[in-house]
Amino acid sequence: MSRKMLVVGNWKMNGLRAQLADVEAIGVVAGQHLDVEVGLCVPATLLAAASEKSGAAFVGAQDCHQKESGAHTGCLSAEMVKEAGAAQVIVGHSERRTDQHESNADVAAKALAARSHGLKVILCLGESLETRDSGKAIAFVLDQLEASLPEGAAADWLSIAYEPIWAIGTGRIPTMEQISEMHSAIRAKLLDLVGGGAADAMRILYGGSVNADNARDIFAIEDVDGGLVGGASLTAAKFGPIIQAAAG
Ligand code: PGA
Repeated sequence: MSRKMLVVGNWKMNGLRAQLADVEAIGVVAGQHLDVEVGLCVPATLLAAASEKSGAAFVGAQDCHQKESGAHTGCLSAEMVKEAGAAQVIVGHSERRTDQHESNADVAAKALAARSHGLKVILCLGESLETRDSGKAIAFVLDQLEASLPEGAAADWLSIAYEPIWAIGTGRIPTMEQISEMHSAIRAKLLDLVGGGAADAMRILYGGSVNADNARDIFAIEDVDGGLVGGASLTAAKFGPIIQAAAG
């Protein structure tokens, strides 16, 4: 099964209007590589402006609330981020699971809320260094997948991102064998959870210290269908070569 590569930048809490020039330049690179789906998950404050500048790249949000509306000070609903210009939304990033204490059930509910407003979803999973060192990384991530996968998960609206917490922002990445082993374990588990056709078509991204130097090797791994990129997505100079690496 050939899956279209998906390369998404996660700007986290970075980016002011001054960075819209980079959004525009990244959109231009995306337009030169239409065989790769490219997106930028910018801060919510930039969604509207970025969506007008992003060219061939889609703009996404980094989170949404699971409820439709109500007394949730500081939160944004799926409908709000969609109206502001988001086409996709990240749910379950480890920084939110840790900092905002989001549970697997919250993550599944956020994914369903996003889906109900026509947003595509990038669902993040990943183990801590302690879990990795204890030899339980695969079991942990597969449990997390089962518990945070929304009902009706299908490849046309949901992608998975495997992001080992200890690789995020550290410059340290797993070995290619460890990435390969985890991605094929996730795909095998998806086979159980969503069935053969859907599991085969669903994209599984790798995230954690992806950069222009390691992207080509990571993207060449069989069950890796793209990347979720933090620090190296903030400028076109850094992100452009990663998009190129995904284009092969
Ligand atoms: P990083 O972040 O590329 O800066 O390690 C990845 C992420 O957290 O999505």
